[in-house]
Order: sequence, then C-alpha cells, then structure tokens
Amino acid sequence: MIVSTKDLFKHAYGKYALGAYNINNAEQIIGLFRGSLDSSAPFIIQISKGARSYTDKRLLEAMIRAADEIFPEAIYAVHLDHGDEESCLDCIESGFYSSVMIDASSKEFGENIAITKRVVDAAHPKGISVEAELGTLGGVEEHVSVSEADAHLTEPKEAEEFVKRSGCDSLACAFGTSHGAYKFSGSLGLHFEIIQGIQELLPGFPIVMHGSSSVPQDEVRRINAAGGRLKGARGVDEEQISRAATMGVTKVNIDTDGRLVWCRVHRESFRDDPENFDLRPPGKIFMAEYAKYIAHKNQVLGSAGRLEEVRAELKK
Ligand code: G3H
Ligand code: 13P
Ligand code: ZN
Repeated sequence: MIVSTKDLFKHAYGKYALGAYNINNAEQIIGLFRGSLDSSAPFIIQISKGARSYTDKRLLEAMIRAADEIFPEAIYAVHLDHGDEESCLDCIESGFYSSVMIDASSKEFGENIAITKRVVDAAHPKGISVEAELGTLGGVEEHVSVSEADAHLTEPKEAEEFVKRSGCDSLACAFGTSHGAYKFSGSLGLHFEIIQGIQELLPGFPIVMHGSSSVPQDEVRRINAAGGRLKGARGVDEEQISRAATMGVTKVNIDTDGRLVWCRVHRESFRDDPENFDLRPPGKIFMAEYAKYIAHKNQVLGSAGRLEEVRAELKK
C-alpha cells in the first residue's frame, strides 16, 4: 500500500529511520519488497532521475504497481530521489509519488530556497511532501583539514532558516557522508554534533541522511576475489547509522550497497559457471541476496518489526 511519506515520518521520528532504497529494475523491486516483508518493515522506494531514464519511468511505475498487488501487506512511500525542478513537477503531476526531492544544493542559499519553495507550492496542494538539500555532500578526505571539510557541512542555524523560509517537509543535510563506494577515508565518521544541533533547532523535523551505504567489507572482498577492482571502498558504520536513527535522522538513503550485492552475485555466478549465459540464474540469486540485505539493514535502522504498528496507526 502506497502511503504518504509524512505519515511514515510521523511514526518513525526519534525512534527509528526508514530505509530509502533506490531501484532501477524488476529484480531490485522484488528483492526490496521481499526483504521488507521478511523483516516486517515499512520503507521508502526511491527512483532517481537516472533510474527514470534508464529504461522508462512508466515501466518502473508499472512494476511498482504490480509489486503492490503481489505484496499487498507492504506499506511504503514512493519518492523521487535527487530531482531537479522539472522532474519534481513531472512527478507531482503524475499523481504516483508520495514525495519528491528537489536537489538545488549546488545553488547559493537564497536561490536554493526560492527553487525549493516553488516545488513546495506545487506539491503541497496535492498532498505530496518535499525533501530539500542544504550543504554539500562529498568525500571527507584525510588530506583536507577539518575546517575546510566543515565548510561543506550543513550549518544548523542555516538549516533552521532554510526550513522556515522554504516550507520543505524534510531536509537532506551534509554531516560527513558522501555518495558512492568511497566514503570518508581514515577514521572520520558522522558529525553527530551537527545532527544534534539541527535536531535542537528543529525538533520533530525529519532529517535525511544521503550517502548512507555501509559498503560491507566482505562484499568488497568477494567482488575483488571474483575479478573486481574496488580499492579502498568504505562506508558508514552501522552503529553510527543506528545512533543517528534515534536523533531525528528519519530517512536513510541507500543505493551503493544494493549495487555491490548485484556486482558480487553476478561476478561470482559467472566465475563459478562460465558456461552459463542465462540471466535468470544470477537474477534469482540476486533477488534472494538483496532481500537478505534489506532485512538486515532494516534491523540496523530500527524499522524492522514496525509494520503492524504503522498499519494500526494509519487506520486511526
Ligand atoms: O544519490 C544518488 C543515487 O545513488 C542515485 O544514483 O543517479 O546513478 O541513479 P543514480
Ligand atoms: P549511497 O551511495 O551511500 O548508497 O547513497 C545513496 C543516496 O544517497 C541516494 O540518494
Ligand atoms: Zn543521495
């Protein structure tokens, strides 16, 4: 059942975080629904601009509608990940999305607010909520001094002003993560003082963490043992994710980890069965392995076991 992102956030805030998982094809959709039901977790399925143009956005939407029939007990929201103004308006118009993300974080503060507000004004009358982004995510490298690195992180005071002026419903903030498989080198992790600062100034307001893949080291090792060349890949510690989930971080975006599962399964499958050229044997393994990953991650986020609570809350 597709529900509003706002309702999911209301239930989760301060207690647990919703996994927001990127999907691009049928196998990922099936793995995500199975893993979420196996762990009794509500979730957010998210589609990036790139995913919408990879095959065709209508195909992805139709596959999600089909999954809704195949898995009638599932409770989830559908979200546009990293949209621009045009794709946000397209999703708002389509009536299929629970929420959209307007990513104008590369613009200067005032322009980011103005663009976000235009999207909010189009989305709210239709009951769609809007995630915005403030701050610059990026690799925090060891050779960058802390003050330089801090310059890219979200300022809690600015976050407060941004939310008040733009009217957005959730905010993606930069507090130490980065997209992809190569995150902070060395021992740097999340800046909890920033999360805490934002939570204090905006109590009850959902904070979104992008770049949240953990890049499991065993996955990296297996990929490399099967011919891959991922050197120095590193992600966010799961204990840190669990802690952030109790501090107002209500949506945790994960894409890279799913790609790593896909890569490992396919590399191992073709290595171990070089005569095979059928896509279905590795596809089947991938769906099962991705479902396992999702169920595990939902435990880390604290969303596992919440499905019936959420269902009861939505009926009120
Ligand atoms: O943060 C970006 C997501 O990982 C989506 O990636 O734009 O390649 O689909 P993508
Ligand atoms: P990862 O690259 O860490 O999976 O982050 C995904 C993300 O932020 C999607 O918006
Ligand atoms: Zn992101």
